[in-house]
Amino acid sequence: MRQVHICEVGPRDGLQNAHHLMPTEAKKRWIRALAEAGLEEIEVGSFVPPKLIPAMADTAEIVQHALTIPGIRVVALAPNVKGFQRAVEAGAHKVTFPVSASRKHSESNVRMTPEQMIGQVKACVELRDASGKPTLIEGAVSTAFGCTMQGEVPEDDVVKFATMLAEAGCDCVALADTVGYANPAQIRRVFRRVRAAIGAKLEAAHLHNTRGLGLANALAAYEEGVRHFDSSMGGLGGCPFAPGASGNVITEDLVFMFESMGVPTGIDLDKLMEARKLMVAAIPDEPVYGHMALAGVPKGFRAAA
Ligand code: COA
Ligand code: ZN
Repeated sequence: MRQVHICEVGPRDGLQNAHHLMPTEAKKRWIRALAEAGLEEIEVGSFVPPKLIPAMADTAEIVQHALTIPGIRVVALAPNVKGFQRAVEAGAHKVTFPVSASRKHSESNVRMTPEQMIGQVKACVELRDASGKPTLIEGAVSTAFGCTMQGEVPEDDVVKFATMLAEAGCDCVALADTVGYANPAQIRRVFRRVRAAIGAKLEAAHLHNTRGLGLANALAAYEEGVRHFDSSMGGLGGCPFAPGASGNVITEDLVFMFESMGVPTGIDLDKLMEARKLMVAAIPDEPVYGHMALAGVPKGFRAAA
């Protein structure tokens, strides 16, 4: 049984910030290999204006392909009602909305205030409910641990926006360290506060490794009861509208950490490393990271039962 659930966000968070475009057919092969490695949830792209992020222009085709792979939940990001409608039309199982707790990042990323963005999410919940479709809706509080433009982000704002998202009808809420400012003590404190405010609706930790604390923060979140994590193969990632943002916590290393602790992820490390080879071959000039890829699986390593 899986004890932690990992959502691979490389095809979205990773490729949106990559210097090189991954061809559509290579994305499909990579996503299939990720599923074969045991990833049960994959964020495959975003429904944003193609002119804004050309790497995401093929998301509808990618969603449709991913839907043919059995056993995975297909996730897409949307920044507004139009993006949500495109995601539902393509058939995404779950749609995630970035709601910045930093007003400056919100303005830069979606050209809306956090409150306007929550209004978009609420409108999407109402559309979903009226349609009777089962599409899951996630509100992700981004820049929840600090912002490269605004600096400090008050914890009260994070609690407030997470609560507004829960009240707007989101099925789940995530906290995102978009620019990699978080430390483990802060992760514990903020997750605990938001959990006290919205209970089980608080689900995922979306962490970036910008200052090397990705795994330490993931462990802190785990010890605070978090069981859903976003991560990115090869540590690709970053928000193009947040200066200084860089890659997510590295999927291969996160899987190794949990499995070696005896916490099952449902992911096969060897197959994961095969999927990494496909990813690297598809964007060979893109810098990629990861200690597992450098050092290999330890002698005698046994996956968690
Ligand atoms: N998908 C495709 N096209 C979209 C769209 C969407 N989700 N949302 C808006 N558009 C189109 C509009 O139809 C309009 O087209 P037109 O010029 O042909 O009439 C154009 O884009 C501008 O629409 P507008 O509503 O004024 O958007 P904007 O320019 O104020 O941008 C967002 C707002 C939210 C669409 C944009 O800032 C965005 O996509 N941000 C997300 C960025 C991102 O992906 N960040 C990383 C992930 S967190
Ligand atoms: Zn991110």
